[in-house]
Amino acid sequence: MMETQGIMNIEEEAETVDTANKSHQPLRTPAVAPSPRSTEKPQTTRSEVAFDVQNLCCWFGAHQALYDVTLRIPARSVTAIIGPSGCGKSTFLRALNRMHEIVRGARLQGVVRLRGQDIYAPGLDPTIVRRRVGMVFQKSNPFPTMSIAENVTVGLRLNGLRDRDVLTERMEKALRMAALWDEVKDHLDRAGVSLSGGQQQRLCIARALAVQPEVLLMDEPASALDPISTMKIEELIQQLKKDYTIVTVTHNMQQAARCSDYTAFLYMGRLIEFDKTETIFTNPGNKQTEDYVTGRFG
Ligand SMILES: Nc1ncnc2c1ncn2[C@@H]1O[C@H](COP(=O)(O)OP(=O)(O)OP(=O)(O)O)[C@@H](O)[C@H]1O
Ligand SMILES: [Mg+2]
Repeated sequence: MMETQGIMNIEEEAETVDTANKSHQPLRTPAVAPSPRSTEKPQTTRSEVAFDVQNLCCWFGAHQALYDVTLRIPARSVTAIIGPSGCGKSTFLRALNRMHEIVRGARLQGVVRLRGQDIYAPGLDPTIVRRRVGMVFQKSNPFPTMSIAENVTVGLRLNGLRDRDVLTERMEKALRMAALWDEVKDHLDRAGVSLSGGQQQRLCIARALAVQPEVLLMDEPASALDPISTMKIEELIQQLKKDYTIVTVTHNMQQAARCSDYTAFLYMGRLIEFDKTETIFTNPGNKQTEDYVTGRFG
C-alpha cells in the first residue's frame, strides 16, 4: 500500500508514537528494498521523530490535493519534498504548521503529530503551532516598512518581548545563524527590502529563527536566487540541521540530493516513496520515483 511506503525505519520513539496509529500499519515495512549500504551499516543510533503524519488528506473546496499521506519525518535532519508542479508539495508543507486551514474552503483530514502532540487537537491555538514550526517562502517577503533589525525581531515583539537588550541579543544570534550578520551588522537600521534577493531570503530565515522554532519549513527557498546565494542557503541548511528539523520543498533534483538526508516523492497528491535521500536517488523502490529523479518526466 502506498502509505506504508512512507514509514521509515525509525527506532523507539516511533514505536511510542505508533501506539496511537489506529490503522496498525507495520512499523518496519520493507516496502523499499534497503540499499546495500544500509544493510552493511545498520542504524544503531536512536532516531527521533519530529512529525508523525498519518493518512493526511487535504482539500481545496471539492478538489482533493493530498491523498492519505503517511510518513514520519526524523528530527534534526533535512527532509526534501520533491515532485512535479501541482502534486501537493506546498499543500503538504502548509499542513505541517496549520496554514492550510487559512485558505477559504480548505479542509483536512488525518493526524499530524509534532513530537507526539496532535497539532490539530481541538482547542489548540494554531499560533502556538506556528511558533514551533517556522516557515520560509519561495519569494522572500521582508516587511517593507521595517528595518533589517525590526524584520528579525518582529515575531519576538509580537510575542510580547520588550527588553531591548534581549531583543538585540536575539536579533544578532538569529542573523548569525542565518549567515547574514557580517553583511548587515553596520547598517541594521536600513530597510529590509534594501537588501539583495539572497540577503532578503536569509533575512526571512533569520526572522523565522528569531522566535526559536523547533522546525523550519522551507518552500523552494532558493528557487529565485543566483547560484552563489543558492549555495549560501544550502550551506545554511546544513548548519541548521544540527539544531532544527528542516523540511524543504525543491524542484531542483541536485539540490535535494546534495542537501537532504531524506526525500519524499509526491505525485498527483500521493506519497509514492519516502526513504533516505541516497536510496531515492540511487536505488528507488518505485519506477515512478526512478523516472522522476532521472528526469524522465516532471
Ligand atoms: N489556494 C488554492 N485554492 C485552490 N486550489 C489550490 C490552492 N492551492 C493549491 N491548489 C491546488 O492543489 C494542488 C496542489 O497544489 P500545491 O500548491 O500544493 O502544489 P505544488 O506541488 O506545491 O506545486 P508547485 O511545484 O507548482 O509549487 C494543485 O492542484 C493546485 O491547483
Ligand atoms: Mg508549491
